[in-house]
Amino acid sequence: MARPSSSSSSSMAILALAFLVIFTSSSSAQLSTNFYSKSCPKVFTAVKSVVQSAVSKERRMGASLVRLFFHDCFVKGCDGSILLEDTSSFTGEQTAGPNNNSVRGFNVVAKIKSRVEKVCPGIVSCADILAIAARDSTVILGGPNWNVKLGRRDSKTASLSAANSGVIPPPTSTLSNLINRFKNKGLSVKDMVALSGSHTIGQARCSSFRARIYNETNIDSSFAATRKKSCPFPGPSGNSKLAPLDVQTPTAFDNNYYKNLINQKGLLHSDQVLFNGGSTDSLVRTYSSNSKTFNSDFAAAMIKMGDIDPLTGSHGEIRKICSKPN
Ligand code: HEM
Ligand SMILES: *[C@@H]1O[C@H](CO)[C@@H](O)[C@H](O)[C@H]1NC(C)=O
Ligand SMILES: *[C@@H]1O[C@H](CO)[C@@H](O)[C@H](O)[C@H]1NC(C)=O
Repeated sequence: MARPSSSSSSSMAILALAFLVIFTSSSSAQLSTNFYSKSCPKVFTAVKSVVQSAVSKERRMGASLVRLFFHDCFVKGCDGSILLEDTSSFTGEQTAGPNNNSVRGFNVVAKIKSRVEKVCPGIVSCADILAIAARDSTVILGGPNWNVKLGRRDSKTASLSAANSGVIPPPTSTLSNLINRFKNKGLSVKDMVALSGSHTIGQARCSSFRARIYNETNIDSSFAATRKKSCPFPGPSGNSKLAPLDVQTPTAFDNNYYKNLINQKGLLHSDQVLFNGGSTDSLVRTYSSNSKTFNSDFAAAMIKMGDIDPLTGSHGEIRKICSKPN
C-alpha cells in the first residue's frame, strides 16, 4: 500500500462516496419485478383470477382496488397499513376522513390473500397484493399494463392520525395543494395529473362533490343539473348517493376523464382544477388527445407511487391475514 498520500486519500473519498450512495439510497431500490420468481411464481395468476372474478361481478371493484393502493401508499408508504381493521384495542386508518364509508374492496383483498396463501403460504405480503391487484384492475378495465415492482413487507401497525393529516388530498384541494401533496411523496406534477386519470373509473359520493355542483361556475350547466337530481342540497340527506367520476365511460379505463375536464365536466373540485387556466392545462390537453401518452405516463407514475417508503429486508412482516398483524 505504498501509494502517494494524495491518491490514497482520493481513493478513500471515492470509497466513502460509494458507501454513501449504497447506504443512503432509498429502500425502494430493493423492490424488483422478479422478487417472487423463485419463491412464488404463481402469485400473478392467483391474484389475477380473484380480481377478474370480482370485477366481472361488479366493474366498480376494479376502481376500488386501484384507490386502495393509492390510500395505502400515501399514508406511511406502501405497507398494507390501510388493510388493518379496528379492534377494541387498536384503531387503524379505515375510519379516517378520506377512508370512512368510502374505501372498499377489503373482502376482495382477503379472498386474494387466501388464494395466494394456498399456492405459497407465508411468502407474499398484503402490500404487494395491493400493488398487483391495482395493476390487474387497470388492465381488466382496459388500461395499460406494467411490470409491478415487488418485495414490500407489511406493517405491524397503522396511523389514523397520518391518514387524517391531509397527506391524502381532499376533493376541495386547490391545484397548488395537489401539486404539493404529491411532491411531498416524490411525485411530479406530471405524475399527479396522470394518476388523477384513474378518476376515469369509479364513483364518488354526493358529499364529495355537492359544493362543486351547487356553487361553482366552471362547470357545464346541464352536467351540474343532472348531478343535482341525485345529490340534494342542503345535506346531509343524500350524502352517500353515488355518481360516476367519468360521466362518459365510468367503467372503462380510458382518457375520457381529460376530455370531460376540457368540457367542464369534472365531478370533483380537485378534478376541475387540473384544467382551469393553470399550469396543468396543457398536460390535460395532451392526455385528452393522446391516450398512448396518458397510458404510458400513468403506468410510470403507478410504478413511482408504488415505490413510496416500502418496508423491506427484515422490517415489518408478511401478514397471514391482511386485516390483522400476525
Ligand atoms: C389528486 C388527488 C386526488 C383526490 C383529491 C382524490 C379524491 C377522491 C375522492 C373524493 C373520491 C370519491 C370518494 C367518495 O366520495 O367516496 C375518489 C375516488 C377515487 N379515486 Fe381519487 N383522488 C385523488 C387521486 C387519486 C389517485 C392518485 C388515484 C389512484 C391512482 C385515485 C383513484 C380513485 C378511484 C379509482 C376512485 C373511485 C373509487 C371507487 O369507486 O371505489 N384517486 N378520489
Ligand atoms: C365513520 O362512519 C360511521 C358509519 O357511517 C360513523 O358512525 C362514524 O362516526 C364515522 N367515523 C368517523 C371517525 O368519522
Ligand atoms: C354555497 O355557498 C354558500 C355561500 O358561501 C353557502 O352558504 C352554501 O352552503 C354553499 N353550498 C354548498 C352546496 O356548499
